[in-house]
Amino acid sequence: MDGVTVIDHPLVQHKLTIMRKKETSTASFRRLLREISTLLCYAVTRHLDLTTIRIETPMEAMDAPVLEGKKLVFASILRAGNGLLEGMLDLVPAARVAHIGLYRDHETLQPVEYYFKAPDDLADRLVIVVDPMLATANSAIAAMDKLKERGARNIRFLCLLAAPEGVARFCAAHPDIPVFTAAIDSHLNDKGYIVPGLGDAGDRMYGTK
Ligand code: URA
Repeated sequence: MDGVTVIDHPLVQHKLTIMRKKETSTASFRRLLREISTLLCYAVTRHLDLTTIRIETPMEAMDAPVLEGKKLVFASILRAGNGLLEGMLDLVPAARVAHIGLYRDHETLQPVEYYFKAPDDLADRLVIVVDPMLATANSAIAAMDKLKERGARNIRFLCLLAAPEGVARFCAAHPDIPVFTAAIDSHLNDKGYIVPGLGDAGDRMYGTK
């Protein structure tokens, strides 16, 4: 699929398999999520633009590469998105963090924003939106709408697992936003869960039911 990158690194695939297993404990799930999110972060930032600055090593002066532009923004879709943040911040500690909270209105079934906090200058930054599961894509699409309303123009979406239905809907709604995922599973079930998936990502990382 155009605009979708499956991160097939062996370490990512190995860790994902352990996360999928139903007997994996909350503590192990959380640790693996932190480890895997560092690897996913490496992949989603793989082609960032560089510029050079003049530095002095103990030996001599040189023009050395650094990231170009303003600090990145990692935008977490609450609550499960938070599980990906720590590992990503291990790799990019200076990144800014945004939080987007959405709930589903029972009457209209549309996502409604209940929380939004982000840097003011989204238009000048690369925004990497994180949510472990791209299932129906309703909340991911709404989150992108909200970010674009606030000026974001350069956005990437990073998840752990996706359903083909969610990928298709997301790419139709936001064809300008590249999607990165560790796997695209078989399908969504009638409750909106990814199959075979890993269950409810939020519940598994926080030990709730
Ligand atoms: N959210 C989850 O946590 N799991 C799914 O399978 C789908 C959405």
